[in-house]
Amino acid sequence: MSDSGRTFTTVGVVGLGTMGAGIAEVFARHGFSVVGVEQNDEALARGRQHLENSTARAVRRSKLSEEEQAELLGRISLTTDLTDLAEADLVVEAVVESVEVKKQIFRDLDAIVRTETILATNTSSLSVTEISTANTSPGRVVGVHFFNPAPVQDLVEVVRTVVTDPVVLDDVTELLARIGKQPVVCGDKAGFIANTLLFGYLNHAVSMFEARYASREDIDAAMRFGCGYPMGPLALLDLIGLDTAYEILETMYRQGRDRLHAPAPILKQMVTAGMLGRKTGRGFYTYDGPDSPATV
Ligand code: NAI
Repeated sequence: MSDSGRTFTTVGVVGLGTMGAGIAEVFARHGFSVVGVEQNDEALARGRQHLENSTARAVRRSKLSEEEQAELLGRISLTTDLTDLAEADLVVEAVVESVEVKKQIFRDLDAIVRTETILATNTSSLSVTEISTANTSPGRVVGVHFFNPAPVQDLVEVVRTVVTDPVVLDDVTELLARIGKQPVVCGDKAGFIANTLLFGYLNHAVSMFEARYASREDIDAAMRFGCGYPMGPLALLDLIGLDTAYEILETMYRQGRDRLHAPAPILKQMVTAGMLGRKTGRGFYTYDGPDSPATV
């Protein structure tokens, strides 16, 4: 129970893709009843498979016993019917990154959940404020930005809009701490804290490379050996995918108009040329396969 007296027993997760399945797993692992909702039977089967694979991996790595795995999976019920969320104390929406699809879900939830149920979106780049307006009680809407893979990564950015009820914010933050996460709170701007800082830095590294200020190897080596980063910025961009990085920067620049996020021109040129990084075998470095080390 939180200071406000709110109790969380049942958590709904809408969308069981990469993120939603991971979020469902985290809550079930900490003893919550989870109701996972997908749009059709095929997607539901994929979500179930995702949960089974991920928990089996945890068993292989001795992070979970077989008995705990069975208990965890037993706490998750799967459905294609959104109305099965009627008893949820918290609903986390993790469907595709489309403002219209997300708004429709927040609209539909209005007639399904109790008035005190907290509604959260896992969006990475859309406006939480805009999504919240689809619900008649936008004060109960927050962003909860988990990182991938959700069962492993500790950070969750909790996003407050100008109308989020402070009690809702406190209760969600406290709940996330209870499930072993490190919550941080920020305002509603694409990129939130981590990506705003990270992608500004990555973009700056690309500009340095583009201006021939330093070689790719030296830019990466400076951050690895000088700052202790596990990977240099250009190698990291190849891993993220240059197309994904470009889209993230573009979205942040459009919303925030901070020139740090104006994508370096060469990034767009490389994307257009199909140099997307590891996944296409060529980005700032060349690769023999998606998982192989960089070759020159
Ligand atoms: P995904 O494409 O793996 O999964 C989305 C799922 O939503 C699919 O299984 C799809 O069938 C389902 N879905 C679509 N419409 C639905 C509906 N009306 N009702 C129920 N289910 C529906 O996408 P992913 O990567 O899991 O992303 C989900 C959200 O999380 C997005 O908002 C994304 O921006 C955000 N996010 C993604 C991260 C990542 O690294 N993939 C990291 C942090 C946030």
